[in-house]
Amino acid sequence: MKPPLSPPTGHSHGLTRAPKAMYVYEWPVRVWHWVTTLAIFVLAVTGYLIAKPLHSVGGEASDSWVNGWIRTIHFVAAYGLSVAFLMRVLWIPFGNAHSREIFWVPLWKAAYWKELLQEVRWYGLVKKAPAKYVGHNPLARFSMLFMFVLGTLFLIFTGFGLYSEGTAAGSWQRALFGWTSSFAGSSMTLRTWHHLAMYYVLAFSVIHMYLVLREDIMGRTSMASTMVSGWRLFRDEGTDIDDAEEPAIRRGIEAEVRAEEAKEPVPSPAAQGKG
Ligand code: HEM
Ligand code: HEM
Repeated sequence: MKPPLSPPTGHSHGLTRAPKAMYVYEWPVRVWHWVTTLAIFVLAVTGYLIAKPLHSVGGEASDSWVNGWIRTIHFVAAYGLSVAFLMRVLWIPFGNAHSREIFWVPLWKAAYWKELLQEVRWYGLVKKAPAKYVGHNPLARFSMLFMFVLGTLFLIFTGFGLYSEGTAAGSWQRALFGWTSSFAGSSMTLRTWHHLAMYYVLAFSVIHMYLVLREDIMGRTSMASTMVSGWRLFRDEGTDIDDAEEPAIRRGIEAEVRAEEAKEPVPSPAAQGKG
């Protein structure tokens, strides 16, 4: 059953009415998201155990090979994370406008900072009503770029730097990442940086999960289910969709709204039982 339509209440960006659902995250982005989530979870647990190994067990070492397995699982997950990251980057030119949102932010636009501040106020329980975004909100974009994308790249570079210490001279790991050890000063420093970067990306992950669930409950749009189905559902018909930074997104929303309105005219206040 269709939700009741509300009359136009004034609007931003020339919209008269928000659509009820929009397709936002294409399947490659969704598959990448969940593969990455799993990989980071496995990498954090095994990484912690590499740094703080379990107590040694009795008997012949090769019979149990506990730390060997922990390292092997770390490396399998590391390859998974890195290949998924590469595929995600390669998807940028093929994906929709939302697929580019976490790789750049319009830091030079005053409007962007204003909207980011609004989000900080909303999450800080200062602002009473949340804004409504089709893709990511400005604060999410900021943290996804500076904490997730750059943090994960750092982990991949330092991780393969460490890994290349055990690969043959002339291997691609050495050729591409061997320099990181001398750049850091020593292998131990590189390891420490790799370790610290884990906490940086984990901080993002924990805050991200909390905010996704909080927004799912308190916000005006669907959240967790959007990363499963790809569809963003709008709970109310307010008109202030704020994804204004990307003209392509804006044109898409406007086209959807016009199509909706052509199908179903907005009822007058009288027709809504006010007369
Ligand atoms: C989210 C991603 C990752 C996390 C959270 C993570 C975490 C960690 C941690 C905490 C350590 C232990 C450092 C220490 O001893 O203080 C470690 C070690 C290591 N990691 Fe990662 N890592 C990640 C990605 C990677 C990647 C992409 C590679 C690439 C192959 C990698 C390769 C290694 C290697 C080679 C070691 C050293 C293992 C050893 O010396 O036994 N890591 N990692
Ligand atoms: C290690 C854990 C996680 C990491 C590193 C992570 C990372 C990310 C990143 C980078 C994006 C941006 C996707 C893009 O536009 O390409 C994203 C979006 C999203 N993630 Fe996660 N995620 C994690 C766990 C989760 C979990 C457990 C959930 C569900 C409860 C979740 C729900 C979402 C949702 C709903 C979005 C879209 C948010 C929006 O539209 O603004 N994530 N995540």
